[in-house]
Amino acid sequence: MSEHTLTHVDAPAHMSVGKEYINEIPLEKLIGPVVVLDVKRKAEMVQEYGISITDLFDWERRFGRIPDGAAVIMNSGWDRRHPHPYAVFNTRNISNLETYRVPSWTFEAADWLLTNRRVIAIGVDSPSVDFYTGETLPVHRRIFRDSVIALEGVANLDSLPLHGATIYIPALKLYKGSGTPTRIFATFPKCRSFLHKLKK
Ligand SMILES: *[C@@H]1O[C@H](CO)[C@@H](O)[C@H](O)[C@H]1NC(C)=O
Repeated sequence: MSEHTLTHVDAPAHMSVGKEYINEIPLEKLIGPVVVLDVKRKAEMVQEYGISITDLFDWERRFGRIPDGAAVIMNSGWDRRHPHPYAVFNTRNISNLETYRVPSWTFEAADWLLTNRRVIAIGVDSPSVDFYTGETLPVHRRIFRDSVIALEGVANLDSLPLHGATIYIPALKLYKGSGTPTRIFATFPKCRSFLHKLKK
């Protein structure tokens, strides 16, 4: 499989020359508090919904300042579309990237977050932290500039609280890799009762 298949991490070297390869990301940048931005309702109503600065402020109004070292991840409900590629990329022509229509991050929100808070990762449950329309991938480039990683195709975010969980991103140390598939998981208070419920 490709390094960028399904649930995966993008390393800064994916697009930024001289930046970290996946095997060079220190462990402390792969563990941290997880901030879940629940925009499921908005993403149902708007094609290509983009995480906005308002979404970040709304989260902070409820739970306080985004903690240092956080991974901030959009939950748009997109993971329900797996495993159907046409649904995941929301297109009729899987050969043409320009037709993909997925929710993601606005550049403004990613830039505000990187400038004003200290985060280790930004993420999405959709396939990309940038929209496919437009060639420049501004969010990827902005976060890689600060040696922040991207988490794409993150699944099962509904099983996490919106704050208070700790995320673990066990990235494979692929030598000079630009990314890696990974089985991301999180722990949180009441985790055990959650797992019990999932088993049922
Ligand atoms: C799908 O996209 C490819 C690549 O752009 C193009 O060559 C092809 O004609 C498209 N197919 C249809 C049915 O539009």
